[in-house]
Amino acid sequence: MKLSTTTAQNSFKYSWLLSRIFPYIKPYIPRIVIGFLVAIPLGLLDGVTAFALKPYMDYVIGGKALEFSLFGRDITITVLQMSFILPVGVVLFAGLQGTLRYLNDYISAWTSQRITNDVKFDLFHRLIHMHPQFFDENPSGIIISRYMNDPATASTGIVEQIKTITTSLCGALGLIAVMLYSSWQLAIIGVLVLCIAFVPVALIRKRIKSTSNKNMVIGGNITTNINETYGGNKVMAAYQLQDRQEKYFREQVWDSFNVNMSLTKRAAWMSPMMYLIASLGIATVLGYGTHLINTGHMTAGSFASFVTSLLLLYKPVKTLGGTLTSIQNIFVAMGRVFELFDLKSEIKDCENPIELEGLNNGITFENVSFEYVKDHPVLKNFNLNVQKNETIAIVGNSGGGKSTLVNLIPRFYDIQQGSIKIDNTDIRNYSLKSLRQNISMVFQDNFLYSGTIKENILMGNPNATDEELNNAIKSAHLQDVLQELPNGIDTVLGERGLTLSGGQRQRVAIARAMLRNAPIVILDEATSALDNESEAIVQKAMDNLMTNKTVFIIAHRLSTIKNADRIAVITEGELVELGSHDELMNHENGQYKALYEMQFKKQEMAV
Ligand SMILES: Nc1ncnc2c1ncn2[C@@H]1O[C@H](COP(=O)(O)OP(=O)(O)O)[C@@H](O)[C@H]1O
Ligand SMILES: [Mg+2]
Repeated sequence: MKLSTTTAQNSFKYSWLLSRIFPYIKPYIPRIVIGFLVAIPLGLLDGVTAFALKPYMDYVIGGKALEFSLFGRDITITVLQMSFILPVGVVLFAGLQGTLRYLNDYISAWTSQRITNDVKFDLFHRLIHMHPQFFDENPSGIIISRYMNDPATASTGIVEQIKTITTSLCGALGLIAVMLYSSWQLAIIGVLVLCIAFVPVALIRKRIKSTSNKNMVIGGNITTNINETYGGNKVMAAYQLQDRQEKYFREQVWDSFNVNMSLTKRAAWMSPMMYLIASLGIATVLGYGTHLINTGHMTAGSFASFVTSLLLLYKPVKTLGGTLTSIQNIFVAMGRVFELFDLKSEIKDCENPIELEGLNNGITFENVSFEYVKDHPVLKNFNLNVQKNETIAIVGNSGGGKSTLVNLIPRFYDIQQGSIKIDNTDIRNYSLKSLRQNISMVFQDNFLYSGTIKENILMGNPNATDEELNNAIKSAHLQDVLQELPNGIDTVLGERGLTLSGGQRQRVAIARAMLRNAPIVILDEATSALDNESEAIVQKAMDNLMTNKTVFIIAHRLSTIKNADRIAVITEGELVELGSHDELMNHENGQYKALYEMQFKKQEMAV
């Protein structure tokens, strides 16, 4: 599943998307409702200032006292009183509105971040359980963009938009009410013009979606580029790849520029067009309004209220217009998020899995065929039976399928044909967790996480006692290394911490594997990247790890291979020879013998 090839098809299925996001919103509904309730008066209050202009114009400026009766009593408000009440009222309303706005912002920020958190938690949980092939196929930049940025856009957006839509809509309704109250004829003209002004927004929706998707892919590519520049900085320096990286980066940034400009070219006329239509509306209103005042159908105060409302209406309406664009982006992000939710790890437990508890008999490969890419078989009809506590060395040409073979045992990949059995049960019938619990692995390049050395070793078995930890350190020949470090085993590794040499890293990895104390041990070129001196000490550590275990070892060192119980020679994904060193050396024209003449003899002579 390549994440960059998404079509954003989902983003058009609005009800489906809303039904998917609903479970995340559900726990926060009470708060969202409170935010919603606060947003209604917040929006409606927009109309108050405009409304206040009418009495101000008609009574204060017109010099009339306001007379009305309330509960049977006649009340008179003089011009002087009115000229105080109105300004004070406006300020009080602003204070009320400010308080409501703060509450509303706080509630919506809180809920949207919480929903984002929940979505991120669930997505990350799925990410860490994805099968290795998923990580083979998808560059880090795309993963970061899809697993971190999209959820934020999707969930923050949805709450923010509920808030914006409610306040703007209520604002608009309040203002329209004032307009209707001032003059229904003018109000109809005003609202009609507004509706026409919105037509262009609807027209460019699709374009916004496809742009948003292209931007996601480009953003991902840029992140990947920066990750590779960082991770590959030495190779870049050694092979002077700066120009190459720079060229890619420039291309990607220009891609992003072009995508955004093409959207701007097609969408930027929208806002001026809305202005133009609005100005036509205002012109009509001014003309017709003058006529209404002159013919005595409307007071000057009502007209002032009306025009102010109409002008104030521009803001909520423009916000609502912008909301339509944002909502498109949110639906695209939501579409992408739920696409990730529907990805299933291809490597998972069967129904009613059995727990694997140690190894009793052995491991068998029966007619195993495997391919990473369709129709490019890597292992072909492979058969091998490994006894408990046997050490099997795997040798062969590079790219022949040795690493692939051992990666099939912990089910990093599932085979297409045949069966791999542990104690006569297919490994797919065991729970993934128990299967992997029974395997210790050391690779050529072992990943150490940022954190202390102790933490990295304890990953092998978090419940290990201090005694077990010390034994593992001793067997891995790590004491000397630890003694020289300022903080010993508590030295921090990683991004800002210390970097260990290759041999030291391997020994930490071996200590980690040792602590796991699993019956099956897989060593894939664990000493290949080391110089002779570190190799010798790592080899000793490895020998300790291998005692009384069932071992698959891929190695290039003759002594290691010779010490194995049997040697399996793999060429182009096929088992071509199997036997002890002496047996295989007796095969005239045998592959092992040829390999020996070519590679190992030199090592033997050097000793
Ligand atoms: N993750 C992968 N995705 C696709 N092809 C792969 C992957 N890993 C290895 N291959 C291919 O499978 C073949 C066997 O590789 P591998 O098992 O690593 O060989 P060896 O360890 O013997 O050098 C090679 O052709 C290699 O290109
Ligand atoms: Mg390999």
